Amino acid sequence: MDFFDLIAQRHSVRAYKPDPVESEKVQRILEVARLAPTAANRQQFKIVVIETNKIKGDLKRLYIRSWFAGLEAPLIIGVCSIPDKCWIRKDNKNYSDVDAAIVMDHIILAATALDLGTCWIGGFDLEAAREILELDESWEPVAFTPLGYAQDEAGLKKRKPLDELVIYK
Ligand SMILES: Cc1cc2nc3c(=O)[nH]c(=O)nc-3n(C[C@H](O)[C@H](O)[C@H](O)COP(=O)(O)O)c2cc1C
Repeated sequence: MDFFDLIAQRHSVRAYKPDPVESEKVQRILEVARLAPTAANRQQFKIVVIETNKIKGDLKRLYIRSWFAGLEAPLIIGVCSIPDKCWIRKDNKNYSDVDAAIVMDHIILAATALDLGTCWIGGFDLEAAREILELDESWEPVAFTPLGYAQDEAGLKKRKPLDELVIYK
């Protein structure tokens, strides 16, 4: 798929088929995530690949929306940063969230290229995530996405016009 078609094709999928995701596809997605750039090339992130069935009873606690509680996608992927080890600018800005977001975006775009559906989830319960997934204390979960075959198709994108978003100097 052409890069520009890929960007148009990606959309937030909130209804999935229960069909399994081929392990070769998961591996290719993880390889792409590994290649994501990080500030100062620190690579201080962890990717958690979760079998949905294993946390079925905890889905609602992880993220309260009803579409997630009944999630059919076979996998969920979480990206955690390790803020204490990420690059910090001299004015103290920690780039851990930025690094994790780039990793997640690589995952999401790779999944789209392989005809898989995803949806960024930032609205999860942080403490529940740490507990359910038994994450190391130094890891901060930043975002999750289901990974599976979509039941819907990309619709029209609601976006601001470019002249509201871009300034030229
Ligand atoms: C950082 C981030 C966090 C998000 N968190 C959630 C979320 O918690 N739940 C959800 O349903 N969608 C979430 N989304 C999806 C956005 O609502 C969605 O990307 C936006 O409405 C644009 O729609 P599209 O992805 O279909 O183009 C999130 C997106 C981003 C980038």
